[in-house]
Amino acid sequence: MRNSKKSAAALIAAAGMAVAAGAAFAQQKPEDAIKYRQSALFILGQSFGPLAAMAQGKIPYDKDAAARDAGIAEFVSKLPWSRFGPGTDQGNTKAKPEIWLNLEDFRAKADKMQAEVAKLAQVARTGDFNALKMQVGETGKACKACHDEYRNK
Ligand code: HEC
Repeated sequence: MRNSKKSAAALIAAAGMAVAAGAAFAQQKPEDAIKYRQSALFILGQSFGPLAAMAQGKIPYDKDAAARDAGIAEFVSKLPWSRFGPGTDQGNTKAKPEIWLNLEDFRAKADKMQAEVAKLAQVARTGDFNALKMQVGETGKACKACHDEYRNK
């Protein structure tokens, strides 16, 4: 009796927390959404950077470091896109207003990049440096395609 009471209370508490978390997400302040996506993109850049430097011979190739950074890049590449919601087109952001006029194209470019980064992570794990170099190139193109059109300098 005591136990079932306790677990019912725990269930209700858990449900309450889930609702609170959902509400918090729905009401995320535009400036927090902007900070969230910029933070994810910053980490993406910091994880991709060493791979690009290895590909260009600027730092020595390190298979384990490459695999680790590519894995992080793959994960964070998924994060920014839910944070381009209404009201996040102004403030402390380099996002161009064109994003919200061409959301389908913007999403397609985000998907393309995520696919390239996923491939990058796969290739990095194999230790094939030539394949890694090629895939760094393809990934860089996917970053640039979006920045050229949708990011202010
Ligand atoms: C679909 C579009 C798109 C793709 C693809 C994309 N970016 Fe960006 N990126 C943006 C936008 C938009 C911003 C500006 C965000 C803001 O200021 O709110 C940005 C900002 C950044 C920033 C600056 C973050 C900061 O500190 O504020 C870095 C670094 C970055 N991107 C790296 C990358 C890398 C590396 C890739 C490829 C692996 C990539 N991005 C792919 C759209 C994209």
